[in-house]
Amino acid sequence: MKLFGVAASTRENSLNRHLFDRVAAQIEEHGHQITVADYTIVENLPLYTAAREIDPGIPDEVQTMARAILDADALVISSPEYNFSIPGPLKNALDWISRIKPSVLTGKPVLLLAASASPVGGWRGLAALRVPLTCLGAQALPWEITLGGVTSRDAIDASLALEVTRQRVDMAISALLRDHV
Ligand SMILES: Cc1cc2nc3c(=O)[nH]c(=O)nc-3n(C[C@H](O)[C@H](O)[C@H](O)COP(=O)(O)O)c2cc1C
Repeated sequence: MKLFGVAASTRENSLNRHLFDRVAAQIEEHGHQITVADYTIVENLPLYTAAREIDPGIPDEVQTMARAILDADALVISSPEYNFSIPGPLKNALDWISRIKPSVLTGKPVLLLAASASPVGGWRGLAALRVPLTCLGAQALPWEITLGGVTSRDAIDASLALEVTRQRVDMAISALLRDHV
């Protein structure tokens, strides 16, 4: 199974990238290959406007990312919550990708991840992310992995080592892989 992943932060010591890396490593232990988007490219995309779509047109980087999504059997997205919602560059990338028809996200299973210092672990951001994913035909899995109350990578590792978290993570990963092996 081929997976495509996005960790929606380039911040040094990003919590969400660390969570992504840990989950991706676990997916690879199951024998599946996961390609990761270069998120600096996403952050440097021009802001979508109707005028830019006409001239100079959909950026090559968006076309490349869309092909990678189309090629993948499933996606993994780890995203910070910004103001209870989606970080701007990620929403912008989805808006650009949505201009390619038919939607390359149609039917793609998506596992969502988030880590945050907040006790609720970024789930509101993931709820917001589910909206455009649903609009574009993706199948965001009901199982998601949110880690709350974490302020460092060590705290993420400690949380992932807890039996209760391990069970949740295993459940979410097998939900992603089970139907699509
Ligand atoms: C503009 C902005 C808005 C934020 N809003 C939220 C929020 O609504 N909920 C939350 O839990 N954390 C919020 N945060 C904190 C981020 O979750 C925190 O900085 C997190 O570490 C970012 O993810 P990263 O470590 O992967 O870069 C916000 C941070 C920024 C910069």
